[in-house]
Amino acid sequence: MTITDNRTGRSVTVPIEGSTFPSAALRELDRTLRLYDPAFLSTASCASSITLVDGENGILRYRGYPIEQLAEQSNFLEVCYLLLYGELPTKDQYAEWQHEITTHTFVHEKVKRFIDGFHYDAHPMGVLVSTVAALSTFYPEAKDIFDEQSRQQQIVRLIAKMPTLAAFAYRYSVGQPFVYPDNSLSYTANFLSMLWRIAEPRFDANPALARALDVLFILHADHEQNCSTTAMRTVGSSQADPYVATAAACAGLYGPLHGGANEQVIHMLNRIGSVDNVPAYIERVKKGETRLMGFGHRVYKSYDPRAKIIRQTADEVFEVTGVSPLLEIALKLEEIALSDDYFIERQLYPNVDFYSGLIYQAMGFPLAMFTVLFAIARTPGWLAHWLELLGDPETKIYRPRQKYIGADQRDYVSIDER
Ligand code: SDX
Repeated sequence: MTITDNRTGRSVTVPIEGSTFPSAALRELDRTLRLYDPAFLSTASCASSITLVDGENGILRYRGYPIEQLAEQSNFLEVCYLLLYGELPTKDQYAEWQHEITTHTFVHEKVKRFIDGFHYDAHPMGVLVSTVAALSTFYPEAKDIFDEQSRQQQIVRLIAKMPTLAAFAYRYSVGQPFVYPDNSLSYTANFLSMLWRIAEPRFDANPALARALDVLFILHADHEQNCSTTAMRTVGSSQADPYVATAAACAGLYGPLHGGANEQVIHMLNRIGSVDNVPAYIERVKKGETRLMGFGHRVYKSYDPRAKIIRQTADEVFEVTGVSPLLEIALKLEEIALSDDYFIERQLYPNVDFYSGLIYQAMGFPLAMFTVLFAIARTPGWLAHWLELLGDPETKIYRPRQKYIGADQRDYVSIDER
């Protein structure tokens, strides 16, 4: 591609690789030139080999493997390994990985005192962001981010401890005693045990529900340069430790436009109340009065492939739990939206959050825990990008520029004269 600056007549020819061209080309024309790109709609912030999202064709692959195959044949811990290290583990590698994660699920006893400091009705995402950041104070060696062994140790700790922190936050919110990890259980079965065990000596989750949660975690594990992953990379680029970087990513995920959408979908379905009210709600959306939560995506301009798999998983869960009364409203919303020009013109389809909330609710999770589940699942994705960032020779501290539109120079006026 040749770019010509008509002010000077100077031109520069740049290669186009992977639908991108280097912004350095602009500085060859005029070193003060900057790309103005609010919200980075047309900016490739890095080169990555972790996840491919093809929005036009509704394709999602982790390290080249189609999400449909991973959801069908793999499990969450194996997908964590794949995202982090680039290859599916051998049997021995998987056994070692599973042992590492299983034996690092406990948190320092002092963490319970942090959680005790919150109000009884503290949102579990607020608790999670805080306690993940607090973990950095227990592992000062995590600051040595260029020590390979330390990096590996913190990665294992974070993946292993997120469910424990999440379960503690939930148990605190309902006034129940914390349940410690049960290392004889699988990753998701242990999480369900820490959430739901009461007086019984051992909690055996329904295998169909434990598997459904494992599939949901696989589907949420990574999604290239989304908002929260960009937060992870931004904080990681300053060479902060992985705990505070993960806390920043959790904070980004908390927003209702990102990971908070699954909770907002249920609020929306409850507000609609019945199938009869769906057409009127759709009209309000088309007037711009409100949004169809769980619909639309910055990258997917067709059906989010994860939403398709989640829809199938919902049927498996509902066989155990009974069908969610809100499903009928959700199906009607989807049916009308997919045939209405307002949504078709804007390429708005169900995204990962549209049906996931119905499953979580049917499994007994309170609404406030939905984004926490997303955070547990996305942790390996955040950490894979953190690792990739540290190994990327092009990495520098993230420091974008701006288009200044503020006041010209002016002189200070004393308060008596204002
Ligand atoms: C996730 O990035 C990722 O990969 C995220 C994620 C991941 O795995 O990390 O996939 C997870 O965050 C999924 C998205 C969850 N969020 C929601 O479901 C919230 C509702 N969706 C939207 O707010 C919106 O679609 C976004 C935030 C997801 C994307 O917004 P964009 O790309 O910034 O698009 P936009 O807001 O500029 O909207 C473009 C047009 C606008 O109409 P016009 O002003 O041009 O007339 O589409 C309209 C918007 O009003 N629009 C919607 C809509 N989403 C966009 N109208 C109604 N309902 C919606 N949901």
